[in-house]
Formats: sequence, structure tokens, C-alpha cells
Amino acid sequence: MADRRAFLQYLAASPLLAGLPTADLFAQEGARLAKASDALDVFDFEAMARQVTPPAHWGYLSSGVEGDATLRTNSEAFNRFHLRTRRFVDVSHMDMSVDLLGQKFSSPIILCPVSSLGAFHPDGEVGAALAAKNRGQLQVLSTQATRSVEDVIKGRGAPVWFQLYTTDSFAVTTKLLQRAERAGCTAVAITADLPAGRNPITQTRFQRQDTRNCVSCHGPAGPGGNGNVVSSKPMFAGIDATGVRLQSAALTWDFIGKVRAVTKMKVLIKGIDDPDDAKLAIANGVDGIFLSNHGGRATETGRSTLEALPEVVAAVRGRVPVIVDGGFRRGTDVFKALALGATAVGIGRPYVWGLASFGEQGVDRVLEMLNNELRLAMVGAGARTLKEISRASLIAARG
Ligand SMILES: Cc1cc2nc3c(=O)[nH]c(=O)nc-3n(C[C@H](O)[C@H](O)[C@H](O)COP(=O)(O)O)c2cc1C
Repeated sequence: MADRRAFLQYLAASPLLAGLPTADLFAQEGARLAKASDALDVFDFEAMARQVTPPAHWGYLSSGVEGDATLRTNSEAFNRFHLRTRRFVDVSHMDMSVDLLGQKFSSPIILCPVSSLGAFHPDGEVGAALAAKNRGQLQVLSTQATRSVEDVIKGRGAPVWFQLYTTDSFAVTTKLLQRAERAGCTAVAITADLPAGRNPITQTRFQRQDTRNCVSCHGPAGPGGNGNVVSSKPMFAGIDATGVRLQSAALTWDFIGKVRAVTKMKVLIKGIDDPDDAKLAIANGVDGIFLSNHGGRATETGRSTLEALPEVVAAVRGRVPVIVDGGFRRGTDVFKALALGATAVGIGRPYVWGLASFGEQGVDRVLEMLNNELRLAMVGAGARTLKEISRASLIAARG
């Protein structure tokens, strides 16, 4: 181990490797983390998660759609901006707290809904809930969670937000909403970006490398349940969803009013990445917007959410919070989105890398590292609160 590290350091310093991504070498090293606190950035967990996750599940987690262009551009977009440093600002007291729809959180970094966390670690959604609770950060729970919403809220000891896959039966949808509300969820995010399937080529390639029998875990319909509601998911327990699909291809904007009519939860829409849609969402009464392209897993737009952010923020004009997600891997990434007007930032894959590696401890470490990186970015930019981060905190990269 020590020899290997010394060798990697030697390689990294070698002029032969000038210009090569030496960070990748250390990410390989990360595959041998002994404990969560050994991780130095989220990529250490990515390398380890890849080692410990079966190929089909890894493909499910890491895939975008088609050529994965949107997936890539989500992360690459952060290079368009640099941080503007400011010196001799008293940064001895930093406050990263944020108010989201009347709830206060200690950090603007939130856990996005990711389905089937039990496929990555037995701690699953409850492990994520405990980590988020300990750090005072928001978690949004997927319809397709492998643990019940009641267990997750019990684990956290406080409300989470619920993510809704609309289904194509409003009777079933109503029952999902009522159950989430009864369990204590204070807000629902309606996912709007996957109305009629997707084309996850990378995922399929990884699945083909997996020699395990998927049917033994997923049932006769296999992973994804052929687009039908996967009745084994706890959210559907006790709800007759026979033949019902998880999403509907027929939804239009009046769906938001229909949801409002059957729940008192705040209603957000997830999957907006166009300013005209942001205006329509507000006209139809949403309480908040998730600017998201589903982590590059829905439409292969080739456009990052960061690029869409200033337009969406301008269209929203501060009327509702804008939470952006997609490709955030560093505290400086989060800082850049806040500077462009986001209210908060969601992460998906990074916390699942932590979960797959060390369960709850891994999620905790991901949040700790990203929060610390964000704090350091704020210190360097002389911004002591989120409100002090502005467009003037950034410099557009040349070229
Ligand atoms: C494996 C996986 C499963 C996901 N499941 C859901 C889901 O059930 N509902 C949802 O609205 N979004 C889902 N998402 C999208 C995330 O909520 C989020 O938009 C995205 O992961 C953010 O991008 P990032 O992974 O690059 O951070 C999923 C993403 C991944 C990677």
C-alpha cells in the first residue's frame, strides 16, 4: 500500500506524465479506502463504489442516455467560470444556512431523489436520511425508494420531501401523495422529465457484463419492471397498482392543479431546464423549481443545467426557489451555481458513491467534504453568507 502510494506519487511528479490527469491515478488509489474519513474528495468514493458495486447496478448509477453527452456537459460546464477572490474580508464567522419554503437547513447542498438506494448498500435511504439529519441538510425521497417513507422519516426524526413519479392513474397518484403527506412529508417534487421512456445505452452495456440472475431480485419483469409500477417498492405497498405505469406520456400543465387539489404539501416541479417552462410552472402555481435534466438521464439535450441556470433564474424573478442539480462534484461547483442565482444545489451520484462505499458514514463524509469545499470557496471569495455570493463573485472563463 505504502509502496503503491509512493509509486503513484512518483508517477504524478514525473515529467513523462505532464498534462495527463494524475488525479485519476489517485482515484484508483481511492478504491482501497479503509474508512469513510480517508476519502479526500467525492471521486475517491466514485472509484471505490465502482469496485464494490455489481456491473448492472454500476451501469444504472453511472449511465446517462445515448452518448452520455448531457451527463458529461453537466460537469464540464463549471469550467466556464472562475471564482473571483476577495481579500481582507473578516471571514471568521461563516453561515451557509438556507431557507427553503419556510424550512431552515445548514447548507444549500441537498440530497436529490435517487431510486433504489438499497441496491447500493443495505443502509439505503435510511442511511442517507441519518447522514442528512446529522448535517442538517434536506433529503428528497424517491417514489422508487427501497425503504418506506415512514421508516425514512422515523430515521431522520423530521420531515423529508417526497419526489413523485406521476404514474398514469390519478387514483394511484392520489394515494401516493396522501401516504407521503400522512407520513410527514412537507413538500412534493413532481418529476416531469421522463414522460415516455429513455435510452440508457451505457447502462445496457454494463448490464450485459453482469452474470447474475436479475430476475431473482427484480422479479419476472426484470429491472425497471417494463415501465410498469414495480409493486415490490414500499411506496406502493397496500396500493393496487396492477397494470399502472410509473410515468404518464399524457400529462399537461393542469396536472399541477390536480396535485394541489389533493394535498396540502408544497408542490415543486423537477426537470425544468427552459425559461419558458419555468414561467409556465409558476403560472400554474408551483412553489419551487428543480432545474434538472435528471443527471443527464432524460432527454439527451447536450446542454448542462448550469448553462440554463441564468435564463431560468431571470424568468423566475425570485418568485419561487430554484434548486439546480446535475454534475455537482465540488464545493466550487456549488458556489458557481449559487452565484448564478440558484437557491440551493442538489447532488445525486456523489452521495450514492459514498453510500455504496460505506453506507451512512460514506454519505456523511460526502456532505462533510462538499460543505467544507463550499465554505473554502466562500472564504476565498469573501462571502460570509449565501446572500453575499453574487454574479460578481465569478469571472467568465475566456475562450
Ligand atoms: C441512479 C439514479 C436514480 C435516480 N432516480 C431518480 C428518481 O427516482 N426520481 C427523480 O426525480 N430523479 C432521479 N434521479 C435524478 C436525480 O434526482 C438528480 O436529478 C441527478 O442525479 C443529479 O445529477 P448528478 O447525479 O450528476 O448529481 C436519479 C439519478 C440517478 C443517478
